[in-house]
Amino acid sequence: MASAKAGTLHGREHSAGDLDERAIGWIRQRLAGTGVGVIGDKDWLDRKLAECITDQGLGVADAWEMFSEVVAPQNIGVDSDRFLAFIPLSPSVASVWMDAVCSAANFGSESWFEGAGAIAAENQVIELLIRTAGMPAGAAGCFMSGGSIGNLSALAVAREQADGRRVVVVADTAHASVDNALHLLGLEALDVPTGPDCRLTAAAIRETVGDRRDVAAVVAAGGSTNAGVVDELNGCADVAAELGAWFHVDGAYGLTAMLLPELRSRFDGIERADSFIVDPHKWMFAPAGSCALVYKQPALARAVHTQHGPYVDILRTGDDLYNPCDLGYQLTRRSSGLPIWFALALHGLDAHREAIRRGLDMAKRMATALEDCAVTELVMQPELGVVLFRRNGWGAGEWSAWAADLLRAGIAFVAPTTYRGEPIGRLVFLHPNTPTTIIDELIASLVRSTR
Ligand SMILES: Cc1ncc(COP(=O)(O)O)c(C=O)c1O
Repeated sequence: MASAKAGTLHGREHSAGDLDERAIGWIRQRLAGTGVGVIGDKDWLDRKLAECITDQGLGVADAWEMFSEVVAPQNIGVDSDRFLAFIPLSPSVASVWMDAVCSAANFGSESWFEGAGAIAAENQVIELLIRTAGMPAGAAGCFMSGGSIGNLSALAVAREQADGRRVVVVADTAHASVDNALHLLGLEALDVPTGPDCRLTAAAIRETVGDRRDVAAVVAAGGSTNAGVVDELNGCADVAAELGAWFHVDGAYGLTAMLLPELRSRFDGIERADSFIVDPHKWMFAPAGSCALVYKQPALARAVHTQHGPYVDILRTGDDLYNPCDLGYQLTRRSSGLPIWFALALHGLDAHREAIRRGLDMAKRMATALEDCAVTELVMQPELGVVLFRRNGWGAGEWSAWAADLLRAGIAFVAPTTYRGEPIGRLVFLHPNTPTTIIDELIASLVRSTR
């Protein structure tokens, strides 16, 4: 490989050659659409990449080739319109370009002092969520890097309000990041069983809690991950109020759907949350790395998260609610709310609502097709974009083989799951460009596969 002489890293005299054109071309191509990709082979990757980092550097042509021929193709396309597993990502074109701009700009979005313009724009999105949720005046929030950090940040504030109480009510369907956050915070999860519909209810919480009075917080989901079910938010808020406990709603996946007027009532009770999160990198079509974190009383969060030191105290300008770094567990921060702000500014809310409706519609169509198919059965009607189903005679081995076959054929990336311990199929519809023809392709694969 050609070696370049030590170059200039910055400014007009940089020695990155035509990297800008290469990168722009690559991004344009990616934004036109991508396939389901592959699961990378570790040995091959390690071998190929072993001598990339040298004293002299590879030069733009060879370094780019390493990226474009080795690194980039060896991944699953989680932004593919055929990625139907976990919670897919499907960043819009506008959000991706603004994310690229953010990388160039590096607005100091941890503090108003450094990043006022960027934070003010991000706060427009926070305000939209606060308004839609119907939170009381004074509610505020910030953007963090993702739902796990958002949940951790909110529960850290809950702990501080708990007067030594250590127990947190969580559904048996709660996302793993909630349990993890509780563990990190030295709090104890009190698991509440959900019924066949996977929904956390006030009745189930009351039965599990009994007469204990050591509950610090109640955590509900505004769209659980595995089944895409919205917990009984008003009921959970009632119990939290009775127990004098913090009420947190993990809406990382599904809470975006409250932007649809026809679905807003499903989220009734969200306005009573002490804190909630929404991940724009999920159902708001932003690139990875974005979580909106909202508090009813942001001053409580500031008391917990503000970092002190001679070099950071200068960040406090008096307009402290707008220091994102005071509201969550992150100091240096990219402007992770700017891509969604820009996409909303460019396209408007209605275009985003339509894109959300596409996922809901696809989930309904898939559910109907599974009901009509002789060898499959729905576990439950989809409430949001998640479809859970059975296939006659299939156990864990058949589901894994089905997923591997679909990936190999480039039809879809799917990840089977379990329902009350039973291995089942799971499909998540979120990407607005997922072709309707995929439904027939999936049904055919389920009928055909007789392992
Ligand atoms: C309901 C819910 N909460 C939290 C998370 C974690 O979010 P992140 O992956 O952004 O950390 C997820 C991720 O899928 C989720 O679905």
